[in-house]
Amino acid sequence: MSIFKAVLGICETKPLSSELWSLEGNKARVKLSQMPEPLQKGGAVYLKGGGLSKPVLLLRTEDDRYLAFEDRCTHFGHRKLDLVPGEAKLRCCSINHSTYDLEGNRLSGPAKRPIACYTVEQSNGDLEITL
Ligand code: FES
Repeated sequence: MSIFKAVLGICETKPLSSELWSLEGNKARVKLSQMPEPLQKGGAVYLKGGGLSKPVLLLRTEDDRYLAFEDRCTHFGHRKLDLVPGEAKLRCCSINHSTYDLEGNRLSGPAKRPIACYTVEQSNGDLEITL
């Protein structure tokens, strides 16, 4: 990540097109089967807008699990998070780079609290994230 991006808090993770997910009550339904390119193992996207009160980070782990988190560092800058390539770790995209494990626990940096993890279930080839 460049220092420029870190200063501005620009994350590496890209948003998922709003055509590929919807919010139904407290569940975000991701149309996995309609994605033009599947989410790669070790890849991540984020969901934002569309009625969500906070962005959601969705990732596919190297061992093929889908996980979802509140995409908001708990440090006061509340920057978005990126999956660290090749590591089971999330990193805030701010210059201070707080890190979290894939259970949401804080590992390092100025953030003091864990991030919220959401339940992800697969249903008919799609994903259902309970917020
Ligand atoms: S917003 Fe400051 S470390 Fe994440």
